[in-house]
Amino acid sequence: MSSGVNILDGKAIAEEVHAETQRRVEALEVHGIRPGLAVVLVGDNPASRIYVENKHRTASRLGFFSRKIELPADCPKEQLHEILNALNSDSAIHGILVQSPLPSHLDEEEVVAAISPEKDVDGFHPVNVAKLALGHSDGFVPCTPLGILRLLQHIRFPVPGSHAVVVGRSRIVGKPMALLLLQRGPLGNATVTVAHSQTRNLAAITRQADLLIAAIGQPNFLGSEHVREGAVVIDVGINRIADASAPRGYRLVGDVRFEEVAPICRAITPVPGGVGPMTIAMLLQNTVLAAERAVGLGRS
Ligand code: GUN
Repeated sequence: MSSGVNILDGKAIAEEVHAETQRRVEALEVHGIRPGLAVVLVGDNPASRIYVENKHRTASRLGFFSRKIELPADCPKEQLHEILNALNSDSAIHGILVQSPLPSHLDEEEVVAAISPEKDVDGFHPVNVAKLALGHSDGFVPCTPLGILRLLQHIRFPVPGSHAVVVGRSRIVGKPMALLLLQRGPLGNATVTVAHSQTRNLAAITRQADLLIAAIGQPNFLGSEHVREGAVVIDVGINRIADASAPRGYRLVGDVRFEEVAPICRAITPVPGGVGPMTIAMLLQNTVLAAERAVGLGRS
């Protein structure tokens, strides 16, 4: 936490992860290996373009070989699959990521399944999803939930035995987050409730949370009526709302009404600067892990 305030500075904690990753990149250099990441963007979703650029730039800064592949919104499925096949067999590439969401003519599940599980640094391939669900440690875990665990570790939040309420059930955040918190171990063993858009009496449930994870994708959805005093609140939402006074005509807000919730909770992540930077940090950590595994040095 920064200077006694209860705001979890994801940017600063991400830099700590980057420093560790950079050491691992340097250790691989001794073996003549440079971790390689390919980031694929299909179409021109403006938010996705920014995320992809951030991933590409940060990877280059840490000494990765980073390839950004931009394809038009009407890119035929066959062409995308050909590109993924080529990346799967390219020994300079250890991690492959296709930015979500995809244009509607492309089936996300089919695309993810076309990535080699050993290079699926997003942890979305069915093999990696199954490994997480089964508690096997040799797969890849999705970056946002992994980043959230790292934040909890940083503030020494006692996860075991706590009641974690995850609001949202996406394959990118909600589901893997719930699975991770359920795992045995010092960052698991939580009692996990998953709430979603069909949940009745949401506030009655979220108010029971020691740890509240908001991954709904609705701006300012949760307020002080949803939060118990002293809870830790992790806001995964990155929502653009129109703001004529902002330089770009919009500003970013989370799923949580920050001003209202910050005074009552033990710790809260801001938007931007909370979970977002952690996601990139864990993506690069997963990619260096993929490179280590490719040369038989992998920790699991
Ligand atoms: N879109 C939003 N978050 C993510 C992510 O973690 N990975 C990918 N590939 N796309 C995303």
